Amino acid sequence: DTAEVSSICCIGAGYVGGPTAAVMAYYNPHLTVTVVDRDQARIDRWNSENLPLYEPGLLQMLQSARDGSTEDMEHQQMATVSPQSERRRPNLLFSTDVAKNIGAADMILIAVNTPTKKRGLGAGRATDVTALEAVTKQIAIHAKAGAILVEKSTVPCRTADLIRETLKTYRPGVHFEVLSNPEFLSAGTAISDLVSPSRVLIGSQPTTEGLRAATALERVYSWVDPCKIMHTNTYSSELAKLVANAMLAQRISSINSISAICEKTGADIHEISNAIGADARIGSKYLKAGVGFGGSCFGKDIRSLAYLAETLGLPEVAEYWQQVLKINEWQGTRFARKVVKRLNGTLSGKKITVLGYAFKPGTDDTRESPALEGIRILLDDAPAEVAIFDPFCCPTVVREEVGRLCGSEVLKCNDGSVEVYENAYEACDRSHAIIIMTDCDEFRQSAKAGYEVSNLENRLDWPKIVYNLEKPRWVFDGRGIVDLDVMEKVGVRVEGIGRVG
Ligand code: NAD
Ligand code: UGA
Repeated sequence: DTAEVSSICCIGAGYVGGPTAAVMAYYNPHLTVTVVDRDQARIDRWNSENLPLYEPGLLQMLQSARDGSTEDMEHQQMATVSPQSERRRPNLLFSTDVAKNIGAADMILIAVNTPTKKRGLGAGRATDVTALEAVTKQIAIHAKAGAILVEKSTVPCRTADLIRETLKTYRPGVHFEVLSNPEFLSAGTAISDLVSPSRVLIGSQPTTEGLRAATALERVYSWVDPCKIMHTNTYSSELAKLVANAMLAQRISSINSISAICEKTGADIHEISNAIGADARIGSKYLKAGVGFGGSCFGKDIRSLAYLAETLGLPEVAEYWQQVLKINEWQGTRFARKVVKRLNGTLSGKKITVLGYAFKPGTDDTRESPALEGIRILLDDAPAEVAIFDPFCCPTVVREEVGRLCGSEVLKCNDGSVEVYENAYEACDRSHAIIIMTDCDEFRQSAKAGYEVSNLENRLDWPKIVYNLEKPRWVFDGRGIVDLDVMEKVGVRVEGIGRVG
């Protein structure tokens, strides 16, 4: 006995809501999936070819589910896609009519933002559940009796209870099941992560209704191998999401803390990562030392976990997780300060080039990017120019963002020093120092190919860049992607992370 689901409403057309709804609609042609958002501009873009975010494979998936296109899709990364050969009914819609679409749905996914609170009780640490509370009220007022609610947003443990209480207050006497189904996708690989997830976690109440709702959601994941679907109680599911991000971030801070020891001893952090990662109990992933982790989630989720521990009267646990954040900030700051120190403690009259502005390669997502913090530190020393280039970011958007976050007076168009380039060579031309902030393949120097120009398309022509640098030529490699020995041989000074340089 399973609840019948024929229409899904996903609230929140962001990085999670859009791609998740697209994949659900693509694999379930019998369902109608409507994504709603109060942001008209965002919805307009979802209804166009100019999507509000870039994810490989997303546009093709939309062309199929949203537009009914029957052209074969080419998802190289996807294991299980069976391209639709016959004409399909468009079954993915985007709308700003939140109330109407909530009212028409059998299942409602909540995928709104849950950032860190900026003010008031728990400011800077607790999760801001304002958006979640607002949509819960709308659901209580407009949803069909018996509709299944699904938390896709990352939330503090016991939020499902809060949602249930709010529903009871605004819609007494009507029963709604609330499931927890956290999302584990990463920016830049959203579609392949959704198509081939490591696991799908469904948290439900251990009641007949709860299990019935969980089965209905499991059916929506029709393309996922059933052995990858895990059922838990709602608390475990909510908490597991925070813990997954906290553990990944903790590995990065752990290796970054060791990178500082390497710089003072002669050990090499890449050799350490390889040596310890070969132990299957440790594993090799998330052991890349660098300028620290960024992105919209690691930081906020650790803050949320630490705050949860604190409010539960567990200060030692809170402190333990806070330390992961502390090391992360310290690592970024210490790298940017090293740049200033190596340039004789003054940036006056110098051009500094920042390669990589997003929080990682393959995405235009710039939320909590380590590059921005680095740029702030550089600007304190009044350089002649800070030139920015990121192959995945639109220069206009980056310019606007730097202006908004650092003050519009820092921009070159306002007689400041920050300029954003569309072309890497112009960004690097006559620069005194290049700082690599993301491990983009474009910036990578082919491992052992020496000083030859890499013939890989889009790879930077490092010899050309080096030739046009001002002396003494400096490259600060924040992601360990250039060959230090090779660069040093051609007269470039390289400062990396985690080795004596
Ligand atoms: P986002 O900011 O990109 O999107 C959230 C959307 O919700 C926005 O478009 C906003 O306009 C909309 N919204 C907010 N309040 C609303 C309301 N009252 N009515 C209608 N629409 C409303 O956020 P995101 O990155 O998609 O993240 C969403 C959730 O998923 C967060 O809890 C996040 O922690 C979690 N998550 C994110 C990622 C990721 O890679 N970005 C991965 C896993 C989990
Ligand atoms: C992360 C998780 O990987 C996802 O599983 C999760 O769903 C998501 O957060 C979320 O909840 O939002 P994402 O933020 O997209 O995904 O990015 P990651 O690829 O995990 O990288 C995060 C940061 O860590 C980046 O700045 C990256 O450069 C850095 N990183 C990663 C390192 O410094 N070293 C590493 O070894 C790996």
